Amino acid sequence: MKVLVTGGLGFIGSHTVVELQNEGFEVVIIDDLSNSSLDVLGGIEEITGKKPVFQKLDLKIKQDVIDFFEKHKNLAGVIHFAANKAVGESVNNPLMYYENNIGTLVYMLQRLTKLKQQNFIFSSSCTVYGQAEELPITENAPVQSAESPYGNTKQVGEEIIRDTCKVNEKLNAIALRYFNPIGAHSTAQIGELPIGVPQNLVPYITQTAIGLREQLSVFGGDYPTPDGTCIRDYIHVVDLAKAHVVALKRLIENKNDSNYEIFNLGTGKGSSVLEVINSFEKVSGKKLNYKIVGRRDGDVIAAYAETSKANDVLGWKTELTLDDAMDSAWKWEQKIRG
Ligand code: UD1
Repeated sequence: MKVLVTGGLGFIGSHTVVELQNEGFEVVIIDDLSNSSLDVLGGIEEITGKKPVFQKLDLKIKQDVIDFFEKHKNLAGVIHFAANKAVGESVNNPLMYYENNIGTLVYMLQRLTKLKQQNFIFSSSCTVYGQAEELPITENAPVQSAESPYGNTKQVGEEIIRDTCKVNEKLNAIALRYFNPIGAHSTAQIGELPIGVPQNLVPYITQTAIGLREQLSVFGGDYPTPDGTCIRDYIHVVDLAKAHVVALKRLIENKNDSNYEIFNLGTGKGSSVLEVINSFEKVSGKKLNYKIVGRRDGDVIAAYAETSKANDVLGWKTELTLDDAMDSAWKWEQKIRG
């Protein structure tokens, strides 16, 4: 069965391609290489023994999208990762985010809804919940007005899919709301490749430990949490990738309860920034140079998932720990700087 993975050379996309190939799917990747590298194809091949089909394609060019789908009418499903994800950049350049994340989603759905099999998996984010009133966060928690254009593209993206599913019964879609994906493949063949100074915690930690950054700033030590630092639900990217395969199979096998479903993907366990640092120091045997500084604008205090819907309905749960994730992220950092 042939599956299209957009953004398949990116961080979560590449790990999902590996899991799809491990399960016997034939994968076609499209990626515009704006935030990824062709080397990732080699990493995927090293792990799975198979190089996926790859086409460089910019989804903003509508005619190219049309041509692609003309050539690939026999897709069993589409997993749509291609999008920009830097919160600060989206604040400075909202139209780029709306074009890249929303415009391209519309083009994808226009083509997909002409196919025989219309199975669609969308990368959403726990950012849609903002600071939820109740923890852990269930899928029924209200979506709050977005803090950034990036966050808004996830909310609007979900609405576009939901509205399309309402008028098109043949379209079957699942939105997956990721908590905080971290880590790398255990083989250190693929991982996260942040461009420039990382905005996210774990690449910043590993780059500091390897000597690329001088010191990690811990944003805020006075939050109302047990150790004063923010709490997040850090999920190993390999667990996250496997959830996409499970979700896609659910659609292919017609096991979905309705034609638009939403699942949280997290571990269910919150970890503070200091706990993440401790885990890193434990698995790496290195002391991390960090300092607690002021809060970062827009950070929520605490967010972690209620996972029972994903566990019971989707039939998926995380298997790897925070230590596993930090260990793999560190091995990956050492490999790419080695
Ligand atoms: C961030 C985005 C979120 C997006 C997600 C995608 C913000 C405010 N939120 O989530 O919308 O969906 O990335 O990957 O940008 N931290 C430090 N020092 C650092 C970096 C981070 O202390 O140098 C702390 C943060 O304050 C936070 C935690 O580490 O408490 C995790 O931060 P990060 O990895 O950026 O993820 P989120 O902010 O949860």
